[in-house]
Amino acid sequence: MKELPKTSMKRRTQNIRVLELYSGIGGMHYALKSTNIPFEVVCAIDINPLANTVYNHNLGNRAKHIDITKVNASELDGYHCDLWTMSPSCQPYTRIGKQQDVQDPRSHAFLHLLEELPKVESPPKYILIENVQGFENSITAQKCREVLKGMNYNFIEGNLTPKQSNIPNSRCRWYGLARKGSLVNWNFEEIIATSFKNSYKGEGINTLESFLETQASFESYFLPEKLMFRYGHQLDIVKPTSTNCCCFTRGYGQLVQGSGSVLQTSDHESIADQFEKDRMSLRLRYFTAREIARIMGFPDSFQWKEIEISEKTMYRLLGNSINVNVVSRLLSHLLYPSTGGQEEESIIKPSFY
Ligand SMILES: C[S@@+](CC[C@H](N)C(=O)[O-])C[C@H]1O[C@@H](n2cnc3c(N)ncnc32)[C@H](O)[C@@H]1O
Repeated sequence: MKELPKTSMKRRTQNIRVLELYSGIGGMHYALKSTNIPFEVVCAIDINPLANTVYNHNLGNRAKHIDITKVNASELDGYHCDLWTMSPSCQPYTRIGKQQDVQDPRSHAFLHLLEELPKVESPPKYILIENVQGFENSITAQKCREVLKGMNYNFIEGNLTPKQSNIPNSRCRWYGLARKGSLVNWNFEEIIATSFKNSYKGEGINTLESFLETQASFESYFLPEKLMFRYGHQLDIVKPTSTNCCCFTRGYGQLVQGSGSVLQTSDHESIADQFEKDRMSLRLRYFTAREIARIMGFPDSFQWKEIEISEKTMYRLLGNSINVNVVSRLLSHLLYPSTGGQEEESIIKPSFY
């Protein structure tokens, strides 16, 4: 058989071609894996070498150390991708930060992408963007809506927390979904009604127990006495039977307030009473990085110790990452909207076929 030139061979595949921008440790890639959508991550881009090391070890050598502010439209075009996923830096928009929005240099990479996107000759058919809750009120978000609307994307957005997927974790995030072509009844509320619980206060949320390690040695995870006495009142304490834990941030294990919950390992009934009587007897420990990875939807095959990435680094990288299960459901709706997130043959075809 006559050998096809390289480009034609690429276009014979039925896989959705994906450009994973701000790829970190590959949360978007794992989310795609759990959709059953045939896909190929053509390139993953991140400026953090440690994140790239973890990504490349687990997901094949896709992650490249590139500064997004330096990538131009023709380079973006060259990837010929159907789907772009992006989780831009959230620090310019976080409620506990200064909320400097477009004035914060960390917003510049995304603003740059918004300038380059309209210049791309074959723009992606699908785009998924993730950021912190509150991003929707920023000037950056306004600019994002304008650019996507100007390019005739059908754009929907909303906030979701893993608890709406029965996962015992509060990590409310803003999601924006853009797709080419008009669709009747494609809206965020409909997606929530189809694949998420409308409220996260209801019943049916799993307990933390099923995410906990049982074989690990927890010695180095117990909270030291000094911290317990100085900052104990600021801790969010949960039990294995709890149906919630706070969002784990990049500062987990170092900062006390607002960086994530700690786990009671004693079996005292009332945390508050026992805390006042003898707080050390609660035997509080940090969640391990593996437990946090599980809560965030990463499979146990996801590795970092094997490549000598420390637990502290992993807390940081996981704190920056996404909830794989939530994003996976959203990706299904983005790629197969007319069947409520179920696979549909006609949509699998890449846009440039
Ligand atoms: C919110 S995290 C995204 C995490 C990712 N989705 C994951 O699952 O780990 C933002 C990522 O953007 C990267 N980043 C920030 N500025 C960048 C830039 N100018 N160019 C490339 N990557 C950048 C950071 O290193 C970080 O990994």
